[in-house]
Amino acid sequence: MSNLITRDKKVCWHPFTQHGLESDPLAVVGAKGAQIELEGGRKLIDGISSWWAILHGHGEPTILQAINDQYARLDHVLFAGATHEPAVRLSERLCELAPAGLSRVFFSDDGSTSVEVALKMVIQRWVLRDQPKRHTFLAFEGAYHGDTFGAMSVGDPDPFFASFKPLLFDVRRVGLDKDEAIAALDDLGDEAAGIIVEPRLMGAAGMKIQPDGFLKGLEQAARSRGIPLIADEVFTGFGRTGTLFACEQEEVEPDILCVAKGLTGGLFPLSATLAREDFFAEFLSTDRSRAFFHGHTFTAHPVGCAAALASLDLIAQRDTPQLFERMGQRLLNSLQGLEGNPRVRNLRQLGGMVAFELCGDQPEGYLAMRSQVLRKVAQDNGVLLRPLGDTLYALPPACTTDEELDQIAHALHAMVKADGQG
Ligand SMILES: Cc1ncc(COP(=O)(O)O)c(C=O)c1O
Repeated sequence: MSNLITRDKKVCWHPFTQHGLESDPLAVVGAKGAQIELEGGRKLIDGISSWWAILHGHGEPTILQAINDQYARLDHVLFAGATHEPAVRLSERLCELAPAGLSRVFFSDDGSTSVEVALKMVIQRWVLRDQPKRHTFLAFEGAYHGDTFGAMSVGDPDPFFASFKPLLFDVRRVGLDKDEAIAALDDLGDEAAGIIVEPRLMGAAGMKIQPDGFLKGLEQAARSRGIPLIADEVFTGFGRTGTLFACEQEEVEPDILCVAKGLTGGLFPLSATLAREDFFAEFLSTDRSRAFFHGHTFTAHPVGCAAALASLDLIAQRDTPQLFERMGQRLLNSLQGLEGNPRVRNLRQLGGMVAFELCGDQPEGYLAMRSQVLRKVAQDNGVLLRPLGDTLYALPPACTTDEELDQIAHALHAMVKADGQG
């Protein structure tokens, strides 16, 4: 066992990891383009963009340059009572690019905090309107919005958040059915606070693609009832689904938009919550108590903002959404041979994402270990992949070459084969 892993095992506590069960972590020493390099020189293709964050590729030179230049100019400064060019410019750019109507940008650090900010904006706005009873959000089965308490509350508690259930606030949760959602809203009546949804593609739910018209239906229902629609594009933003934002696919204009992960190309932690002007206007007052009381030490970190600006330039130059679409189609084509395989169900693609479910009965005890076994098969085939339950998927960065895409498809084929022998 490498020295790094031995030391890690003494002092580190990893996310979403049962240390009593899982195999040793990969000892990673570098990353470039679509590949990560392990101790000893072995390389793996990052088939899931390091938790869906790396947008263009690891070590993208223009983003690194922007980061270095910004560090030399201004490393960090508080964002209360101070401002700086990268934050203002990034806010301007995001408002230009985002669905129409979003004109105010509130920065934070990661996807969970961008969601937390969105929820708090909605709740405080109802309080400012003297409607404090409006505190129940409509959310969806399988949804994942992050790991802080507000984000956990609107996420599906099963199975991950079960321990925290007593402390999570009440949410009305429905399936991916427009009529069911509308009926639930009507039932909530004047307790409805807002709707939160991952537009088009629900990542952690198992790469679920929503039925066509679902998102548009939610927008119409929200608008006609005067309640805000929060679009959580933490995962889907910046081209992943084949359009810059997934909301564009149904011409949806949310009241609030959450972005993170790929915002900086995945090279720096930064997130943003965009709101409509009328939202901001309701907090605007000479009364201090009407201010939005939320903030983090590193809000609008100048280096993160500079990285995001460089990433947005690259997206425009390279037409990243189109690149993802082309990559997704190539992956899908290479996986067509799995159609008709009795172990494989629901092969699908959206933008740069391909997924399918594995089915069939496995010997007892195997299921719990299945994900680990399959991860190992992927690694033995030179690819880093992490199945979500029964869902196998890939979502590599935009720089992935055709040869690397074919290798990812090959690894997925090998996983299906190995599962059949499990
Ligand atoms: C849709 C969505 N929202 C929020 C989050 C939370 O983001 P973070 O892990 O950066 O806190 C995630 C993370 O996967 C996500 O997929």
